[in-house]
Amino acid sequence: MAVKRKLISTRTLESGMRIDQTITDSRTGKEMIVKGTYLDDFQIGYLRSKGIASIYVSEGDPDPDELEFHMSAKAIENIAKETKADAPKVEISREVLKQVGEGVQYMFSNTDSENFAEASQNVSRELVKAVLSNDAVAMDITMLKSSDDYTFRHSVEVATMSMLLGKNYGLTRAELEELCIAGLLHDIGKSRIPNEVLNKAGRLTDEEFALMKQHSLFGFQILKEKQNFSEAIMLGVLQHHEKLNGRGYPVGSPAEKIHKFARIIAVADIYDALVTKRPYKDPFSQRVAVEMIMAMTDELEMEAIKTFMRSVNIFAVGSMVKLHNGEKIIEYAKVVQNFDGYPNRPKVVGVDTGQVYDLLNDSHYLSLAVDKLQAKEGEEEKVEKTVDPHAQPAPPSPDTPRPADEEPVQ
Ligand SMILES: [Fe+2]
Repeated sequence: MAVKRKLISTRTLESGMRIDQTITDSRTGKEMIVKGTYLDDFQIGYLRSKGIASIYVSEGDPDPDELEFHMSAKAIENIAKETKADAPKVEISREVLKQVGEGVQYMFSNTDSENFAEASQNVSRELVKAVLSNDAVAMDITMLKSSDDYTFRHSVEVATMSMLLGKNYGLTRAELEELCIAGLLHDIGKSRIPNEVLNKAGRLTDEEFALMKQHSLFGFQILKEKQNFSEAIMLGVLQHHEKLNGRGYPVGSPAEKIHKFARIIAVADIYDALVTKRPYKDPFSQRVAVEMIMAMTDELEMEAIKTFMRSVNIFAVGSMVKLHNGEKIIEYAKVVQNFDGYPNRPKVVGVDTGQVYDLLNDSHYLSLAVDKLQAKEGEEEKVEKTVDPHAQPAPPSPDTPRPADEEPVQ
């Protein structure tokens, strides 16, 4: 959302609103309130006491470039002093993403093909190369955009993130290659769900939802019929909705029976679903999604959660964020450092005050959090368009975690 400027009555001003004009004392010429200030009760009282009837305020997040331009000297100095570059991040070219996305689409449409296994190997090869060819230990999953179609893009994202998680988890190269295939094909069973269920816009009936929950079993069966997928890949697909507390599906397997591939894919799958806009839900911010994953300790493996925390980059060093206390914005800030395993708690520098806020190590700032600035209109958002497992429009997915994960939310 771009900044909106509007004139409002000083009687309706509330603390925390941002004034969009400078108020000067008419007698002395002194600047009393500077444009861009977040008004507090004292300043609002001042405006009213001076008989000022209305002022301009601005709403919405400013453009990051604008913030950069108006940064204070102290902020510039502290940013230079405090900046520590991020660990290398996974970067995959658009071309590779597109190719892999198309490859996944092909596989969803050709599950009966004789060269299905070979095709899946070919499709995964490029992705494995891209993810494992450098020292990358983290990624910003919203940077990926392999396809406009939810299912295919989700498959590529889950495979990519799973591989990175697997790498940080300590899997071997051979295991990572298999994990890539399992990630790409984890929802392949959706190709066996009738379109009228997949594409249903309204709420699924209990029977339909039960059928949707069979997709991981269908996926397992598809791979088993081919006879050239390893047990690890097949279990990764079969068990990606199983939970450590035994309340997952399709079987409700107990923790000790859930393969590590499935444990890893589950984290990547849930995270990707949380941060993606679907027809029936708005996306959660990455910060909130990370907090939700952290809280799923009875469903997801602790080691996989911890690995995830070390593998995800939410606020890249150099990006602008808003620092807030849950109620109001404290100030806009620039990220200068991330801490391993704590993607939510970076060190930032306020662009007005130049104040350094170490959200991880300084207990003064425990109550503060940062969020990304809202995307400008027209900017890409992570939005699902249509799904089409066999070139068909996509359905609401049962994958989205929901409270208790029992009821489809649509
Ligand atoms: Fe799934």
